[in-house]
Amino acid sequence: MLDFCLRFFILRVVKKKEILIAPSILSGDFGKLADEAKRIEDSGADAVHVDIMDGHFVPNLTLGPKACAAINRSTDLFLDVHLMMYNPYDYVERFVEAGADRITFHVEVTEEVGETLEYIRKCNVKGGLAICPETTAEVLPEFLNKCDLVLLMTVHPGFGGQAFMPEVLEKIRYTKDAIDKCGLDVHIEVDGGIDDKTAKQCVDAGANVLVSGTYLFGDDDMKSKVSLLRELGS
Ligand code: DX5
Ligand code: ZN
Repeated sequence: MLDFCLRFFILRVVKKKEILIAPSILSGDFGKLADEAKRIEDSGADAVHVDIMDGHFVPNLTLGPKACAAINRSTDLFLDVHLMMYNPYDYVERFVEAGADRITFHVEVTEEVGETLEYIRKCNVKGGLAICPETTAEVLPEFLNKCDLVLLMTVHPGFGGQAFMPEVLEKIRYTKDAIDKCGLDVHIEVDGGIDDKTAKQCVDAGANVLVSGTYLFGDDDMKSKVSLLRELGS
């Protein structure tokens, strides 16, 4: 009975998760990353999302640990690092040193998924596991107890400005259900093509961390857009 009550209580808490907004600095001006980090902070967002691409796992190159450290020096915000690269295990330490508060890597890039998640936590940062749109969410449950977050890509990773893929909504519902059944406190993050309309669909399906680039950086009024996205959960 106690176990049942405890689980019920945990589920209630999980269901009430607040919506967190993580603007993707990939859509900012790379010539002034420090200013862009400050702009994200001034908007009232919860985190800076930093996309790391290796030119192999995805057909694009972006930033490395050094640029990540520079962004970190410019803001007190939580640094949400999204690794789209092979060999994530070998780079964990570098990104921890660069100030990452959470490191998320892709299930598609390594056989050492559990080991990498454990190592990230051992380094005292949060760990996240990401899947591409074509990867089934059924790979996730066995790792949920080692994750602080799962990232369901809502576009093919590699570039900002792509169209949201609505077929991922079903995976969000599946993942939310799997997390609730285990009574775990794991965030569900979505990334790619997120605007006020697609964010609402994702939040209704169970997502609570919204990454957005093009939409938030689209004009000067990042602050009101961040507030708008945050209110989708209430
Ligand atoms: C895509 C990146 C995203 C992307 C989001 O590979 O992981 O963070 O920059 O940008 P928008 O919101 O423009 O899709
Ligand atoms: Zn990302």
